[in-house]
Amino acid sequence: MSDDPRAPQPGAEHLAEPLRSRWSPSVYDAAHRLGADEVETLLRAAQWAPSKGNTQPWALIVCVPGTPGHDRLVASLSRGNAGWVPRASVVFLTVAHVRDGDGPDAPEHSDLALYDVGQAAAHLTLQARAMGLHAHQFAGFDHDALADALGVPSSHQLLTGIAVGVPGDAREVDERTAARDHRDRTRRPLSEWAFAGRFGEPYETDGTPGTTP
Ligand SMILES: Cc1cc2nc3c(=O)[nH]c(=O)nc-3n(C[C@H](O)[C@H](O)[C@H](O)COP(=O)(O)O)c2cc1C
Repeated sequence: MSDDPRAPQPGAEHLAEPLRSRWSPSVYDAAHRLGADEVETLLRAAQWAPSKGNTQPWALIVCVPGTPGHDRLVASLSRGNAGWVPRASVVFLTVAHVRDGDGPDAPEHSDLALYDVGQAAAHLTLQARAMGLHAHQFAGFDHDALADALGVPSSHQLLTGIAVGVPGDAREVDERTAARDHRDRTRRPLSEWAFAGRFGEPYETDGTPGTTP
Protein backbone atom coordinates (compact mmCIF):
# COMPACT_ATOMS: atom_id res chain seq x y z
CA MET A 1 0.00 0.00 0.00
CA SER A 2 1.02 3.58 -0.50
CA ASP A 3 2.63 5.48 2.35
CA ASP A 4 1.09 8.79 1.25
CA PRO A 5 -2.62 9.43 1.81
CA ARG A 6 -2.66 11.71 -1.23
CA ALA A 7 -1.12 9.07 -3.50
CA PRO A 8 -3.36 8.26 -6.46
CA GLN A 9 -5.62 5.23 -6.02
CA PRO A 10 -6.01 2.71 -7.47
CA GLY A 11 -2.64 1.74 -8.83
CA ALA A 12 -0.36 3.98 -6.82
CA GLU A 13 1.27 1.09 -5.06
CA HIS A 14 2.69 -0.09 -8.40
CA LEU A 15 4.23 3.25 -9.31
CA ALA A 16 7.89 3.99 -8.63
CA GLU A 17 9.07 6.93 -6.61
CA PRO A 18 9.10 9.83 -7.18
CA LEU A 19 5.89 9.32 -9.18
CA ARG A 20 4.03 7.72 -6.30
CA SER A 21 4.26 10.64 -3.90
CA ARG A 22 3.99 13.46 -6.41
CA TRP A 23 1.08 15.82 -6.04
CA SER A 24 0.57 19.57 -6.42
CA PRO A 25 0.37 21.35 -3.08
CA SER A 26 -0.99 24.86 -2.70
CA VAL A 27 0.24 25.64 0.81
CA TYR A 28 3.95 26.35 0.65
CA ASP A 29 6.34 27.41 3.38
CA ALA A 30 6.99 31.04 2.49
CA ALA A 31 10.17 31.12 4.56
CA HIS A 32 11.85 28.25 2.72
CA ARG A 33 14.48 29.07 0.14
CA LEU A 34 16.38 26.84 -2.27
CA GLY A 35 20.14 26.88 -2.58
CA ALA A 36 21.69 27.81 -5.90
CA ASP A 37 22.90 24.21 -6.21
CA GLU A 38 19.37 22.89 -5.84
CA VAL A 39 18.06 25.29 -8.46
CA GLU A 40 20.83 24.19 -10.79
CA THR A 41 20.01 20.51 -10.23
CA LEU A 42 16.38 21.17 -11.14
CA LEU A 43 17.53 22.92 -14.31
CA ARG A 44 19.77 19.94 -15.10
CA ALA A 45 16.75 17.63 -14.87
CA ALA A 46 15.06 19.68 -17.59
CA GLN A 47 18.30 19.88 -19.57
CA TRP A 48 18.54 16.09 -19.81
CA ALA A 49 14.97 15.51 -20.90
CA PRO A 50 14.60 13.90 -24.34
CA SER A 51 13.31 15.99 -27.23
CA LYS A 52 12.56 15.55 -30.91
CA GLY A 53 15.89 15.47 -32.78
CA ASN A 54 17.49 16.75 -29.56
CA THR A 55 16.14 20.21 -30.46
CA GLN A 56 15.70 21.10 -26.75
CA PRO A 57 13.18 23.81 -27.64
CA TRP A 58 12.76 25.10 -24.10
CA ALA A 59 13.84 28.08 -22.07
CA LEU A 60 13.21 28.46 -18.35
CA ILE A 61 13.05 31.78 -16.52
CA VAL A 62 13.99 31.40 -12.86
CA CYS A 63 11.94 33.68 -10.60
CA VAL A 64 13.21 33.92 -7.02
CA PRO A 65 11.09 35.76 -4.42
CA GLY A 66 12.32 39.29 -3.79
CA THR A 67 13.64 39.82 -7.31
CA PRO A 68 12.10 41.99 -10.06
CA GLY A 69 11.26 38.95 -12.22
CA HIS A 70 9.29 37.39 -9.37
CA ASP A 71 7.50 40.69 -8.69
CA ARG A 72 6.41 40.79 -12.32
CA LEU A 73 5.20 37.20 -12.16
CA VAL A 74 3.18 37.90 -9.01
CA ALA A 75 1.58 40.95 -10.64
CA SER A 76 0.35 38.78 -13.52
CA LEU A 77 -1.20 35.93 -11.49
CA SER A 78 -4.87 35.01 -11.76
CA ARG A 79 -6.98 35.43 -8.62
CA GLY A 80 -6.96 31.66 -8.01
CA ASN A 81 -3.18 31.49 -8.11
CA ALA A 82 -2.33 34.74 -6.31
CA GLY A 83 -2.94 33.12 -2.89
CA TRP A 84 -0.38 30.36 -3.21
CA VAL A 85 2.20 30.89 -5.99
CA PRO A 86 4.02 33.78 -4.23
CA ARG A 87 4.78 31.51 -1.22
CA ALA A 88 6.76 28.96 -3.27
CA SER A 89 10.54 28.93 -2.85
CA VAL A 90 11.17 29.46 -6.54
CA VAL A 91 9.12 29.56 -9.74
CA PHE A 92 10.36 28.36 -13.11
CA LEU A 93 8.54 29.83 -16.08
CA THR A 94 8.54 27.51 -19.08
CA VAL A 95 8.98 28.98 -22.53
CA ALA A 96 8.82 27.18 -25.89
CA HIS A 97 10.92 28.05 -28.92
CA VAL A 98 8.08 27.97 -31.45
CA ARG A 99 9.32 29.98 -34.47
CA ASP A 100 12.65 30.57 -36.16
CA GLY A 101 12.53 34.33 -36.52
CA ASP A 102 10.15 37.09 -35.57
CA GLY A 103 6.61 37.58 -36.73
CA PRO A 104 3.69 35.19 -37.09
CA ASP A 105 4.83 34.03 -40.57
CA ALA A 106 8.27 32.86 -39.45
CA PRO A 107 8.75 29.10 -39.92
CA GLU A 108 7.90 26.69 -37.13
CA HIS A 109 10.93 25.76 -35.03
CA SER A 110 9.73 22.20 -34.32
CA ASP A 111 6.33 20.59 -34.77
CA LEU A 112 6.68 19.00 -31.34
CA ALA A 113 8.11 21.91 -29.37
CA LEU A 114 5.21 22.06 -26.92
CA TYR A 115 5.44 18.31 -26.33
CA ASP A 116 9.14 18.63 -25.58
CA VAL A 117 8.72 21.55 -23.19
CA GLY A 118 6.03 19.61 -21.33
CA GLN A 119 8.42 16.70 -20.97
CA ALA A 120 11.22 18.93 -19.68
CA ALA A 121 8.74 20.35 -17.16
CA ALA A 122 7.76 16.85 -16.06
CA HIS A 123 11.40 15.91 -15.53
CA LEU A 124 12.00 18.99 -13.39
CA THR A 125 8.85 18.26 -11.41
CA LEU A 126 9.88 14.69 -10.65
CA GLN A 127 13.45 15.69 -9.82
CA ALA A 128 11.99 18.13 -7.31
CA ARG A 129 10.07 15.30 -5.62
CA ALA A 130 13.20 13.13 -5.56
CA MET A 131 14.94 15.98 -3.72
CA GLY A 132 12.21 16.12 -1.06
CA LEU A 133 10.58 19.13 -2.67
CA HIS A 134 7.17 19.57 -4.25
CA ALA A 135 6.20 21.19 -7.52
CA HIS A 136 2.88 22.65 -8.68
CA GLN A 137 2.53 23.69 -12.29
CA PHE A 138 0.19 26.51 -13.24
CA ALA A 139 -1.03 28.34 -16.31
CA GLY A 140 -3.35 30.87 -14.66
CA PHE A 141 -1.61 34.19 -15.33
CA ASP A 142 -1.69 36.96 -17.91
CA HIS A 143 0.61 35.42 -20.51
CA ASP A 144 0.83 38.43 -22.80
CA ALA A 145 1.53 40.91 -20.00
CA LEU A 146 4.16 38.70 -18.37
CA ALA A 147 5.88 37.77 -21.65
CA ASP A 148 6.11 41.47 -22.41
CA ALA A 149 7.37 42.37 -18.93
CA LEU A 150 10.05 39.66 -19.04
CA GLY A 151 11.20 40.33 -22.60
CA VAL A 152 10.15 37.01 -24.14
CA PRO A 153 10.74 37.40 -27.90
CA SER A 154 7.99 36.65 -30.45
CA SER A 155 9.90 33.55 -31.58
CA HIS A 156 9.08 32.07 -28.17
CA GLN A 157 5.87 31.30 -26.30
CA LEU A 158 5.50 31.64 -22.55
CA LEU A 159 3.61 28.54 -21.40
CA THR A 160 3.45 27.76 -17.68
CA GLY A 161 4.95 28.26 -14.26
CA ILE A 162 6.34 25.52 -12.02
CA ALA A 163 6.20 26.57 -8.37
CA VAL A 164 8.66 24.58 -6.27
CA GLY A 165 9.01 24.47 -2.50
CA VAL A 166 8.11 22.59 0.65
CA PRO A 167 4.68 22.33 2.27
CA GLY A 168 3.86 25.03 4.82
CA ASP A 169 1.44 25.83 7.63
CA ALA A 170 -2.16 25.97 6.41
CA ARG A 171 -2.98 28.49 9.16
CA GLU A 172 -0.85 31.07 7.37
CA VAL A 173 -3.02 31.13 4.25
CA ASP A 174 -6.63 32.00 3.55
CA GLU A 175 -9.26 29.28 3.94
CA ARG A 176 -9.80 28.76 0.24
CA THR A 177 -6.12 28.21 -0.42
CA ALA A 178 -5.83 25.84 2.56
CA ALA A 179 -8.83 23.83 1.36
CA ARG A 180 -7.20 23.21 -2.02
CA ASP A 181 -4.78 20.72 -0.47
CA HIS A 182 -7.65 18.53 0.73
CA ARG A 183 -9.43 18.11 -2.56
CA ASP A 184 -9.92 14.57 -3.83
CA ARG A 185 -7.38 13.54 -6.44
CA THR A 186 -9.19 11.77 -9.24
CA ARG A 187 -8.34 10.55 -12.72
CA ARG A 188 -10.23 9.36 -15.79
CA PRO A 189 -10.31 5.56 -15.86
CA LEU A 190 -7.93 3.70 -18.17
CA SER A 191 -10.97 2.32 -20.02
CA GLU A 192 -11.64 5.83 -21.39
CA TRP A 193 -8.22 6.43 -22.90
CA ALA A 194 -6.03 3.30 -22.98
CA PHE A 195 -6.70 1.67 -26.33
CA ALA A 196 -5.63 -1.66 -27.79
CA GLY A 197 -4.09 -1.23 -31.20
CA ARG A 198 -6.87 0.98 -32.55
CA PHE A 199 -8.35 4.23 -31.27
CA GLY A 200 -11.48 3.59 -29.24
CA GLU A 201 -10.91 -0.12 -28.63
CA PRO A 202 -10.42 -0.46 -24.88
CA TYR A 203 -7.20 -1.99 -23.69
CA GLU A 204 -8.21 -4.75 -21.28
CA THR A 205 -6.10 -4.83 -18.13
CA ASP A 206 -5.45 -8.22 -16.58
CA GLY A 207 -7.59 -7.41 -13.57
CA THR A 208 -4.78 -7.38 -11.04
CA PRO A 209 -6.21 -5.67 -7.96
CA GLY A 210 -5.27 -2.00 -7.89
CA THR A 211 -4.55 -1.69 -11.60
CA THR A 212 -8.08 -0.84 -12.70
CA PRO A 213 -9.92 1.38 -13.47
C1 LIG B 1 -0.38 22.85 -17.83
C2 LIG B 1 -0.94 22.90 -16.42
C3 LIG B 1 -1.61 24.02 -15.98
C4 LIG B 1 -2.08 24.10 -14.68
N1 LIG B 1 -2.64 25.27 -14.22
C5 LIG B 1 -2.95 25.40 -12.91
C6 LIG B 1 -3.35 26.66 -12.39
O1 LIG B 1 -3.39 27.69 -13.07
N2 LIG B 1 -3.64 26.71 -11.05
C7 LIG B 1 -3.56 25.61 -10.24
O2 LIG B 1 -3.83 25.74 -9.04
N3 LIG B 1 -3.16 24.41 -10.71
C8 LIG B 1 -2.85 24.28 -12.02
N4 LIG B 1 -2.39 23.08 -12.51
C9 LIG B 1 -2.29 21.92 -11.60
C10 LIG B 1 -3.38 20.91 -11.90
O3 LIG B 1 -4.63 21.43 -11.53
C11 LIG B 1 -3.06 19.60 -11.18
O4 LIG B 1 -1.86 19.06 -11.67
C12 LIG B 1 -4.19 18.59 -11.34
O5 LIG B 1 -5.33 19.06 -10.68
C13 LIG B 1 -3.83 17.24 -10.81
O6 LIG B 1 -3.43 17.34 -9.47
P1 LIG B 1 -2.06 16.69 -8.96
O7 LIG B 1 -0.94 17.40 -9.69
O8 LIG B 1 -2.02 16.93 -7.49
O9 LIG B 1 -2.09 15.25 -9.33
C14 LIG B 1 -1.92 22.98 -13.81
C15 LIG B 1 -1.25 21.84 -14.25
C16 LIG B 1 -0.74 21.80 -15.56
C17 LIG B 1 0.02 20.56 -15.99
